[in-house]
Amino acid sequence: MSSANVRVPAKINLCLGVGPVRGDGYHPLATVYQAVDLHDEVRATVRDDEQITVTVHSDVDARSEVAIVPEDDDNLAVRAARLLRERTGSTQGVDLAIRKVIPVAGGMAGGSADAAASLVACNEVWGTGLSRQALEVLAARLGSDVPFLLHGGNAIGGGRGETVSPVLARGSYHWVFAMAHDGLSTKAVFAEFDRINAGRPVPDPVVPDALLAALRAGDAEALGSALSNDLTEAALSLRPELSDTLSIGIEAGALGAILSGSGPTALFLASDAEHSLDIAFALSSASGCADVVQSRGPVPGARLT
Ligand code: C5P
Repeated sequence: MSSANVRVPAKINLCLGVGPVRGDGYHPLATVYQAVDLHDEVRATVRDDEQITVTVHSDVDARSEVAIVPEDDDNLAVRAARLLRERTGSTQGVDLAIRKVIPVAGGMAGGSADAAASLVACNEVWGTGLSRQALEVLAARLGSDVPFLLHGGNAIGGGRGETVSPVLARGSYHWVFAMAHDGLSTKAVFAEFDRINAGRPVPDPVVPDALLAALRAGDAEALGSALSNDLTEAALSLRPELSDTLSIGIEAGALGAILSGSGPTALFLASDAEHSLDIAFALSSASGCADVVQSRGPVPGARLT
């Protein structure tokens, strides 16, 4: 096969517990991931030579920050293709075309999603035949969120985020995402977390029992109350205006409101489609919102289409 198309979702963290910084600069995490219906697509086309190229297209005019996605070897999708080639000894080249919908530097793992999609697409078009398990090993080397984006659904994340284990979960949830005008660097938010917590004891992170119980029961109201994010203080310290966005969604009756990962995307849980529309409408006039998107989760991980 000379080309393959892969659809890959964004992720949100229903809880994000962050522990004290480790010797390698990463933070231990205790998180529950959910893959949500906001997808990038990566098309891989085999080349006659050994080059690996990437182009990035965005359908979302309102968010201009797509310009900061590198179209060179720094692109995570290109790094994924190179890593797969290294691992398998393949010498084939590929053209990667990314259609971007997931916000860039938005705390929804957009770059990691493209890396996961690139692994699946290149493995297909190069015929390298690695199993999902083998791809997950490569994924963990590319970034903390990449293994989950292969997996999809709901999952508990441990380690620095790269270890993914199953969680008992029921239900489909209605989300509203408020995208900010400018992205936030994950690295900068973790550095701010360290600055704020210098001299304070930072406990080892845990997944709250209330959140696991809400997911087991498929209870949206209980899930809304149990949403949590230890990076909130750090992200709000760098971007104070995000607290206005969160307040607008809460006033509009969201069951819960938190920042997505390291932000700046804010996420709101709604009870049904109509409620989700009300919250989206309230947020659409907020000055800090570049775009408002209604979505559902969980959805599957990176898949050939
Ligand atoms: O793993 P990934 O490359 O996606 O992480 C981006 C940056 O976020 C890391 O370089 C690190 O500064 C920070 N990070 C962290 N602890 C984690 C995950 C990410 O400090 N568990």
